[in-house]
Amino acid sequence: MRSEFLPFAPPLIGDEEIAEVAQTLRGGWITTGDRAHEFEERFRDYVGAEAALAVNSATAAMHVALAALGIGEGDAVVSTTMTFASTIHVIEHQRARPVLVDVEPDTLNLDPDQVEDAVKRTPEVKAIMPVHLYGHPADMDPIYDIAHRHGLAVIEDAAHSLPARYHDRVIGTPPPGFDQPNLVAFSFYATKNLTTGEGGMLTGAPAIVEQARIWSLHGMSRDAYDRYTSDGSWKYDVVLPGFKYNMADLQAALGLKQLARLDAMQRRRREIVAHYDDAFGPVEALETPYERPHVRSAWHIYLLRLRRERLGLDRDAFMTELRKRKIGASVHFIPIHQHSYYRHRYGLRPQSFPVAQREYERMLSLPLSPAHSDEDVDDVIQAVKEIVRDHPARMRTVA
Ligand SMILES: Cc1ncc(COP(=O)(O)O)c(C=O)c1O
Repeated sequence: MRSEFLPFAPPLIGDEEIAEVAQTLRGGWITTGDRAHEFEERFRDYVGAEAALAVNSATAAMHVALAALGIGEGDAVVSTTMTFASTIHVIEHQRARPVLVDVEPDTLNLDPDQVEDAVKRTPEVKAIMPVHLYGHPADMDPIYDIAHRHGLAVIEDAAHSLPARYHDRVIGTPPPGFDQPNLVAFSFYATKNLTTGEGGMLTGAPAIVEQARIWSLHGMSRDAYDRYTSDGSWKYDVVLPGFKYNMADLQAALGLKQLARLDAMQRRRREIVAHYDDAFGPVEALETPYERPHVRSAWHIYLLRLRRERLGLDRDAFMTELRKRKIGASVHFIPIHQHSYYRHRYGLRPQSFPVAQREYERMLSLPLSPAHSDEDVDDVIQAVKEIVRDHPARMRTVA
């Protein structure tokens, strides 16, 4: 057994990142400035987007996206119950109403048929917010089609999905000819595939991204950086009651170096995923994650599902066993309909989300980070196999 606890998703930070942050510290400008703008440009080019706005979280990116699109009181937004709370919180922040749908059993991404039903029965819907869960893109063709037919914006929660591909498109760019607003929010939180500690990016068409930029910094018509540089002016106008969501140069310095090593980090992620798949694929009590054809997952999370009929312990007990063996697993996510705020406010019940509810009860996420060594991965495999071996399904008694 391991002597030290294996963290779930430690960041991979090298000397380059440390040197870049140190240089920024010494440079005299540490909040939003040249580094943040350079990071925006590099990121925009990496995903092939038209424009990018660096902010301090994916939550902020989604919030300013809704604000820039003018979505607010009296409006509704369709999203998924299987996500992190903040995807839905930002709809609440705007005083709009979230309309939640169930998910597809393989990817656990929102089910396009249910999105269509929700749109048809809710005339107030102004936008669809798909989440590319675990790094696997949601089924976007039917979602774009629904948005096109009903005149809806699409705001993608891509917190998990840098860099993912759907058909020949990188997540972060709209399909050619899509005629509705399309914004995509990425997260650089500490556990994400690319980290700036805390951070996020919004991509989309230049006009909306610029509107989002105003929302992201106090609603000021020019950003603080311009006010303090030699070619800037002290004058500014506040055109909106904006938020304080800008990304600091210190974070962007980290982001620039992380972006430069992203492809290498992704190769390591896929290597670990392949090890897990090889080890767990043949184990009948376990179900390994799916990658649909024509999709390239960003493999943010390795989802393991337990086949309860073949296993003598439930998910919670499985998590306890992993912890005893010093393996830091997690669960993504407790569905929104289970949280007391949303349950009470909208009267949500598990019966309305049978797939999410069933899969939630048998899912767990294994450690996955390019910072993990082969030995770490072997320890996880050994621990999981041991737990399965030691807890066979109970024999059914024949009457
Ligand atoms: C699916 C999903 N959406 C949004 C977020 C929020 O990201 P951030 O912490 O950058 O605001 C997270 C964070 O973990 C997430 O997992």
